[in-house]
Amino acid sequence: MAIYAIWNNKGGVGKSYLTFQLASEYARQHPNKRVLVVDLCPQANSSSMLLGGMIDGESRLNDIHGRQQRLTISGYIDDRIRSPYVPTKSGASYITQVSQYNSKIPNNVYLVVGDEKLELQSSQVSRATLPGPPDAWRTVHLWITDLISDIKHSWNNEDSCIFIDCNPSFSIYTELALTAAERLLIPFSADGSSKRAVKAVLSLVYGQRRHPNDTQSDFYNESNRYNMSLPEIYMYIGNRLTQMNNSSASAFKTVVEEISDEIYSVWQSTNTPFCIHPSGATRPNNKRAFKSMFQFEVNDANTASVVSGALGIPINVLTAGPKIVAGKPQTVNQSQLDKQAPNLQELVQRIE
Ligand SMILES: Nc1ncnc2c1ncn2[C@@H]1O[C@H](COP(=O)(O)OP(=O)(O)OP(=O)(O)O)[C@@H](O)[C@H]1O
Ligand SMILES: [Mg+2]
Repeated sequence: MAIYAIWNNKGGVGKSYLTFQLASEYARQHPNKRVLVVDLCPQANSSSMLLGGMIDGESRLNDIHGRQQRLTISGYIDDRIRSPYVPTKSGASYITQVSQYNSKIPNNVYLVVGDEKLELQSSQVSRATLPGPPDAWRTVHLWITDLISDIKHSWNNEDSCIFIDCNPSFSIYTELALTAAERLLIPFSADGSSKRAVKAVLSLVYGQRRHPNDTQSDFYNESNRYNMSLPEIYMYIGNRLTQMNNSSASAFKTVVEEISDEIYSVWQSTNTPFCIHPSGATRPNNKRAFKSMFQFEVNDANTASVVSGALGIPINVLTAGPKIVAGKPQTVNQSQLDKQAPNLQELVQRIE
């Protein structure tokens, strides 16, 4: 059982899409384990996909957000704004069993629904880290850890796997997510700005300096000061890689190589935490072994991914053929599914 955050400082790299696919596929491969998605992004994209996609998922989200008792991440955060330094033990009342809304999702998937209200709450959360008891920063940063622990407790601490979908910016709720996470998955797209974004992750979370005099993030410094563990890097995932023709494939390969070099140099030169996996595996002793443990590539699924997200049907149960998306006909090709489904299955097999 582990807690994974899916984060990159860059937007649109597939954090929410991968959270949706990973949670669904993990639940399919492990029917006896509970899977929890904590949606810590105010855009609530992974919640929308899990709850049924662009039309049905959005209207279910609206419905959930409109109820008097807000059974979302913001409902829990409100509890904690009222009780910042004393755990409320209320986390378990904020989960939604996804299959009650979307029959395409296995019934062992649970969700703490994302909420745009998080954006409004963020200044209150930040304010709570300042005054109060001397370890206010630490206590507030444990809010999501507390939430997850309440939920796990309500499940009698049975085996589970938890995915936290994060906002791209390094906001206070992203910090809370990273404190709660034991492991970090870093998706990136293979474009020119991805290397900078991955460097930003290494600097903001792990204090890697790009220039000798760079200041380190408060998050890094305070986590150290309070002796709080940082998530271990579990995998960096090149996403939406295309194999359309040789030249684009080789352009993507170049970007993936650049990012791989960057992370490998961190692995070699500092004590940034990495998670050796699978359990029992030995520590990689060369670059090739490093890459085979920590690097993964997910192909661009083209129309299949659009339809999958828009209808809230995970790739592993999506069928080929004509589909209607927001009133317009689309066709999912079997060849796209034949590539993406095993690709995602393999990714999930690497997740412990
Ligand atoms: N492997 C893939 N193949 C095809 N399309 C993909 C793939 N992964 C993600 N996408 C698409 O890319 C777009 C951006 O993905 P997504 O919303 O998951 O990114 P994100 O990192 O969560 O963005 P944000 O930073 O805004 O939260 C979405 O339309 C998604 O469907
Ligand atoms: Mg997202």
